[in-house]
Amino acid sequence: MLRRLHPEQPASFAFTPANLEWAKGQITKYPEGRQASAIIPLLWRAQEQEGWLSRPAIEYVAEMLGMAYIRALEVATFYFMFQLQPVGTVAHIQICGTTSCMICGAEDLVAVCKELIAQTPHTLSRDGKFSWEEVECLGACANAPMAQIGKDYYEDLTAEKLRDLIARFSVGDVARPGPQNGRYASEPAGGLTSLKEHEAGRDAYNASVRRAVDLADTVKRIDGTEVPLTTPWLGRPAAPKPARGKAAEPKPAAGAPADATGATVQEAKASSRGKPKSEGNAPNATPAATPEARVPAAEDTRPAGLSAPRDGKADDLKRLTGIGPKLEALCHKLGFFHFDQIAGWTTNELAWVDANLEGFKGRASRDNWVGQAKILAAGGSAEEAERAAKE
Ligand code: FES
Repeated sequence: MLRRLHPEQPASFAFTPANLEWAKGQITKYPEGRQASAIIPLLWRAQEQEGWLSRPAIEYVAEMLGMAYIRALEVATFYFMFQLQPVGTVAHIQICGTTSCMICGAEDLVAVCKELIAQTPHTLSRDGKFSWEEVECLGACANAPMAQIGKDYYEDLTAEKLRDLIARFSVGDVARPGPQNGRYASEPAGGLTSLKEHEAGRDAYNASVRRAVDLADTVKRIDGTEVPLTTPWLGRPAAPKPARGKAAEPKPAAGAPADATGATVQEAKASSRGKPKSEGNAPNATPAATPEARVPAAEDTRPAGLSAPRDGKADDLKRLTGIGPKLEALCHKLGFFHFDQIAGWTTNELAWVDANLEGFKGRASRDNWVGQAKILAAGGSAEEAERAAKE
């Protein structure tokens, strides 16, 4: 595919102060004289900041690294992880169209994208939230067909599952990545046939999904929910990241002033990012989750807790997939001892819990504690609860 710079370019680009500090931290990873090695993370960060990679952004990064513009342009145009045109404000969906995925239904996934997003790739949906393209093998052939959305892989897809994902993204929900058909990883669809002993005591998610869930660095970043950037190799955190849309540090490319007010595609897209997530769905998509899934965790949404377990005996919260001894102790500390307590959390209360699970933030919703607890409180089995955890 011919990859060219978009005909409509913004006047300038500059990293936000937090991104600038992060970028400088990246550069310190490489020995003197080898700073150009940081080209990919810096281009990627520029893309994450703006949504796509403009010519001023490429030139800005090249200048930071002391590279000729053409060298940076070669990298940006070679890898299709870099988007050279505006993409959906919520998600750009990359459907793998290579052999395994094509045999297993990639064409059906493309048809969904055409129906729900736009007839042609690299075209924004009517609401500007989505775009799509077909890409070459993404290396997850054993879980075909699949798509990369944001930084995550969504595998074992069907047309219906992709429809559901788009609907969820369109209302601000972020589905758990990884296999979407109940598989743990890429084992046989009927379950493991050997090495079964490894199933016992394993994490609820495979390593890749666990990492994605823990980092929570997915389409949410594109959608305005920020994950703090860190520079652990420097032994200190990066500066707090300002909200999207604030003026960037005035260090523009090519000597032009940073322009935070010009009516470019970028600004138009940036302003649309600030809109409530409840404003409409992807065209023709049926929402499968509510915007309340992302409500702020105010103190008045704290669920009622107990000072001690009823009758002095707490339920075994470790029966909930994803809860181990540490999380159980944390739940007790917060006053949660029983399945029926958890089963009764409202969406707002769940958000409060998610935000207050120190060291485990977000686990309650990601492991569907409420759904699991409802099953266990009603006398259901651990297997049923585990299935609910994957929903
Ligand atoms: S063929 Fe689709 S991931 Fe390899």
